[in-house]
Amino acid sequence: METEAPSRSGDGWSRVGKTLPVRNVQALAACTDELNAKGLERYIRPDIDDSQVLAAEQSGEVPAIDLRRLLDPDHLEEEAARLRSACEDWGFFQLVNHGVPDEIIANVKRDIQEFFKLPLEVKNAYAQRPGDLQGYGQVFVVSEDQKLDWSDRFAIYAQPPEARDLSYWPTHPHSFRKSIEDYSSELMQVANYVVIFIAKTLHIDTELMEDKYVCQTLRMNYYPPCMSLAEKVLGFSPHSDASFVTLLLQVNPVEGLQIRRHGAWVPVKPHPKALLVNVGDFLEIMSNGAYKSIEHRVTINANQERLSISAFHVPSFDGIISPATRTPEEKVLYKTMKVKEYAELYMSNKRDGKRTLNHAKLL
Ligand code: OGA
Ligand code: NI
Repeated sequence: METEAPSRSGDGWSRVGKTLPVRNVQALAACTDELNAKGLERYIRPDIDDSQVLAAEQSGEVPAIDLRRLLDPDHLEEEAARLRSACEDWGFFQLVNHGVPDEIIANVKRDIQEFFKLPLEVKNAYAQRPGDLQGYGQVFVVSEDQKLDWSDRFAIYAQPPEARDLSYWPTHPHSFRKSIEDYSSELMQVANYVVIFIAKTLHIDTELMEDKYVCQTLRMNYYPPCMSLAEKVLGFSPHSDASFVTLLLQVNPVEGLQIRRHGAWVPVKPHPKALLVNVGDFLEIMSNGAYKSIEHRVTINANQERLSISAFHVPSFDGIISPATRTPEEKVLYKTMKVKEYAELYMSNKRDGKRTLNHAKLL
């Protein structure tokens, strides 16, 4: 009889879904004789609609929010009003003056780039193992005939520290573990500030939010270039994040991320000094729809690779998520759900816009 692996506290998140093994995309991208319509059949999407992509001049830019101003009593009110408007109107913002030391950012960027440069056999020492979504590989592949994303991913469960499985933490390059550890703890602090100020803009008691962002999964995304077929593939299918908040660092300055806004796709310009923050599904539920978790996708460049690292701040797996209404008259628009139940729905489906969130809506 099979016995279950011992469970570390809070690691439910990495065991909540299955994903089918797929080919390594970085290696495939290097096989020039396969980069044709036949070789890439599983990646080519006939349904990409380029006419919906807006130029930056037409769409405006994702607003920048200044954490230093939020922390300064003289500017707090003004900056909090801007934060509220960014969350309501965009669901995304570029957080500047976030306080993470430049050196910590530079180290994590360097080590992630070094890691993906390693030979496939070395990276595969950290490959996903059956039943676990951590490690080097893919996520959300649930059927043999679905379209695949043009990317490789490497996920590790980073917070709380006791939930870490160090067998997935690379020892090449040598400084990797330390870089990730430093970055992870800095981001816990940034997420803490972000959530405190978001709670303020929503007039929700911060204590109600305390357990909603305490777990952190880091996902490093590697998007190889795709020569002649770049326009026909996607690095990440349209999705919203099953997080409370997500903090994304662009590791190199190549464009690719697009967000859904008023029915069109708006490209996000990489900001060299910012962390890109977005509202996740759990925050949409908790804010009773005041702040929406916005769909986004990643496009691919013909000549340049793109790398990013997402930090998903999520509620504890054993918890509950429910809308926090402010007045007795406010209509409740979302169900109260177990976090685990939401996570299972999310992880067992291929990414398809905001479909999981529809399950949480009250009719
Ligand atoms: C994600 C994501 C975007 C990017 O990891 O959920 O949307 O730019 N990543 O890599
Ligand atoms: Ni995302």
